[in-house]
Amino acid sequence: MRHARNPALLAPLALRGVELRNRVVISPMQEYAAGTDGKALEFHLVHLGRFALGGAGLVFTEALAVSPEARLTYGDLGIWDDGHVPPLARIADFVRGQGAAAGAQILHAGRKASVQRPWLGYQPLGDADVRERGEAPWPTVGPSAIPALPDWPVPRTLEPGDCRRVVDEFALGARRCRQAGFDVLNVHGAHGYLIHSFLSPLSNRRDDEYGGDRAGRMRLALEVAEAVRSEWPSDRPIFYRLSCIDDLPGGWQLEDTLALAWELGRRGIDVIDCSSQGLTRRGTPVTTPREPGFQVPYAEAVRRETGIPSCAVGLIMDFEHAERIVGSGQADLVAVGREALRNPNWAAQAAVDLVGPEAYERYWQPRWGWWLVRRAASLARRRGLNRKD
Ligand SMILES: Cc1cc2nc3c(=O)[nH]c(=O)nc-3n(C[C@H](O)[C@H](O)[C@H](O)COP(=O)(O)O)c2cc1C
Repeated sequence: MRHARNPALLAPLALRGVELRNRVVISPMQEYAAGTDGKALEFHLVHLGRFALGGAGLVFTEALAVSPEARLTYGDLGIWDDGHVPPLARIADFVRGQGAAAGAQILHAGRKASVQRPWLGYQPLGDADVRERGEAPWPTVGPSAIPALPDWPVPRTLEPGDCRRVVDEFALGARRCRQAGFDVLNVHGAHGYLIHSFLSPLSNRRDDEYGGDRAGRMRLALEVAEAVRSEWPSDRPIFYRLSCIDDLPGGWQLEDTLALAWELGRRGIDVIDCSSQGLTRRGTPVTTPREPGFQVPYAEAVRRETGIPSCAVGLIMDFEHAERIVGSGQADLVAVGREALRNPNWAAQAAVDLVGPEAYERYWQPRWGWWLVRRAASLARRRGLNRKD
């Protein structure tokens, strides 16, 4: 590989008053590791801390539920109580102390709430879960009485007053994230959860002000944007994660996303975090093959058509691929999920691959880089000697 002195992936990015040290974002990833009170544990500190030590520019927490009903599982982290703030503040402090920006994502799971942890089946909670773990199902909510899958529980339809309460819960969640000292907020408006289910014509069949035409279906998403912006400091950025397409016949489409992104930008949202799908099923795209970077075109379209910075995500694993995405202007940021689970030093390793071994000193934290750059030189010398043999 040809090394570059200043790769685009490693360039800092200023968003409002927050400067990210590079363009690598750790994508929000639920761990389902909390106790039933939704409080962050040592596990979450170490799990997220590894990514900050590993060189990422911005580390997002997993989705924090804005109410107990907003959780997917009993193991989700919460932000519905003031007691959630101190352990999250510890995480935000640690992440920032390692040079990364600390981000928090907030969520209402809507009609996809009340499920088992993935490794227990990922199905709606039922009698066996009560018997085996004391985990009783709770009623789910949605825009209309349409379940996420045909054999899933039918959600209760939210009345307009309920929608306003949910907006308030998002605002309170944002306030608590601010109190915890996070630099960046991310609103989860994707993957079939509550906000997304209001956007899509397949799940929203209402004829009141929160449904009907696209403007009506966008109302909840936009009210949440306004509410969280009013709670979030003006010198800190907000990301909004969208499923840019449903990838289902008659569903939400890219042109809808562009219209929504434009409106979100007008309400002070700084980055559109471009995911897709998830309205009715998990991991089963109808037409779009899941290949590396399959969602990058959405991030590119958002950036080009609306002028709002975008974050690309989805099977971005290769360092040069990530560099091309940012370098060619397809997205301002690249979010990495599972590949970072595999290698929490993904961002720091990208620097070594793109720049060369001197990146150990420039981009790795000094406690590690000081040794590794010397080891790299000694290994290179050794390889040279062996070649002469
Ligand atoms: C274990 C796991 C948990 C996830 N939890 C969240 C979440 O809390 N919020 C979210 O927006 N996306 C979540 N996602 C989706 C990821 O953020 C990311 O968009 C997806 O994994 C695709 O990126 P990747 O191919 O780099 O993993 C999760 C993904 C995984 C693998």
